[in-house]
Amino acid sequence: MIKKKILLLLFFSCSEKEMTLDEEIAVGVWDEINGYESWTQPGNFSGIQESNSVHGNYVQIWLNEISSEFLHDTTAGKIMPSGSIIIKEAYSDILGENTTGITVMKKITDYDPTHNDWFWVSYKFNGSLTGKNGAEEFCYSCHHSGKDYVLFNGQ
Ligand code: HEC
Repeated sequence: MIKKKILLLLFFSCSEKEMTLDEEIAVGVWDEINGYESWTQPGNFSGIQESNSVHGNYVQIWLNEISSEFLHDTTAGKIMPSGSIIIKEAYSDILGENTTGITVMKKITDYDPTHNDWFWVSYKFNGSLTGKNGAEEFCYSCHHSGKDYVLFNGQ
């Protein structure tokens, strides 16, 4: 009888930790972006920049190869292809010593066709999730004014 109770307890504590599909994608993206500090930075938004967005007072942006290649493609209607990733670190200080968070957008085929298939995710500095991940209206409702939802100036 006691054993059964323990098993039941184990079952519930495990199922509580089960991740949603979006959380699983978010954890996968964190692995995928490992080492992003050596990725390309946009020429006119390189290094730490002042920001007046919700992201923090200072920010820094990195692009993976796919997104940087398509950033300046002005062909009519051209948007970034699947596999594009853009990373943004936010800081409270100009030297970037106090990181307040890392936000990422990744384009995944057919993930959210109504909003150009961007998967949005916000991480704490250690990679743990903040609770905002997936087809986040909070993110795309602000980003929708940019071409293909990309907002930093000079794109
Ligand atoms: C209230 C507006 C607003 C919201 C909400 C917002 N952002 Fe942004 N975001 C910006 C602005 C403005 C920039 C341009 C850079 C800057 O000035 O900080 C930006 C830049 C970015 C960038 C760099 C690429 C780009 O578009 O310039 C990423 C990545 C990003 N945001 C991710 C996110 C994610 C993920 C969320 C949701 C968790 C989110 N953002 C929510 C305003 C917003």
